[in-house]
Amino acid sequence: MIPEKQNKVLESWQTSARYWDKYRTIIAQMFAPLTSALIKEARIASGHAVLDIGGGSGEPSLTISRIVGLTGSVTYTDPVAGMVETAQAAAAMQGLKNMQFRQCSGNVLPFADGTFDRAVGRLSAMFFDDPVAAVREAMRVIVDNGRVSFVVWGSKKANPFFSTITDVIDQFVEIPPEDPNAPDAFRFAAPAKLAGILETAGAKDVVERQLNFQIEAPISFDQFWQLRTEMSGTVREKIAKLSSTQVPNIKRAVADAARRFFTSGTMVFPARALIITGGKTGAAEKVVDG
Ligand SMILES: C[S@@+](CC[C@H](N)C(=O)[O-])C[C@H]1O[C@@H](n2cnc3c(N)ncnc32)[C@H](O)[C@@H]1O
Repeated sequence: MIPEKQNKVLESWQTSARYWDKYRTIIAQMFAPLTSALIKEARIASGHAVLDIGGGSGEPSLTISRIVGLTGSVTYTDPVAGMVETAQAAAAMQGLKNMQFRQCSGNVLPFADGTFDRAVGRLSAMFFDDPVAAVREAMRVIVDNGRVSFVVWGSKKANPFFSTITDVIDQFVEIPPEDPNAPDAFRFAAPAKLAGILETAGAKDVVERQLNFQIEAPISFDQFWQLRTEMSGTVREKIAKLSSTQVPNIKRAVADAARRFFTSGTMVFPARALIITGGKTGAAEKVVDG
């Protein structure tokens, strides 16, 4: 049976699915540095069989599909039906012929041991209901010299793309006590936290890298406000608790706080992510720093 907490997480992602599809071009652009860094850390190359865990509206699967080519393959997975549908439609639109799709949670992967060369997740590990079990599953389904790589957000403070809105809203709504292990965008923001989980799950040669980058898109503040208030379950939930007179005031306060990120007629936020990678045997493909 799916625990109630996880049910709530999945329902929220089901609602988010149409918005992640609506904004797919902007999202692809904003998070492209994460995709590139993940592909580099995972050492994904032509011919690889790659598993994407929590692929959402389709990334990094769609990008990886082009890298591995027709001699390789990408198996996209996500537990949310709405996400799987939009990702599958995008792959068909783009004429990608080397992708398979499965609706499943990271906790129980319906694949035989050693099926994939690589297993990756972009911004999904934070939502695993049992992270150690999910990483164990990822390790189980990769080959002996394979790699698993996850990219997660760094601290809220280093990511004003998120905090600029939530910091203002939090002054108006009652905030429940924070549970550092609750499924949330910043669950693995603390350095070494997800790396420790990989180690507990048996990963070898675990490497954590910090990626400082910019979230950029040619959009105005109003477009940013609309995008964030639609695509984020957390923001949607908080806004639902506000009165209709509070929302315009909060939007004005956020506009003031966000002004410095919209100076050149476009949006540029500094951002930080962590990429955590581990191997199965620790022997073959050790990452060298630099
Ligand atoms: C922030 S989105 C990231 C989606 C996509 N990888 C991207 O970067 O655009 C998080 C995704 O994790 C998925 N997710 C939630 N719980 C999960 C679980 N237990 N196992 C795997 N994925 C999960 C959600 O359905 C959602 O699609």
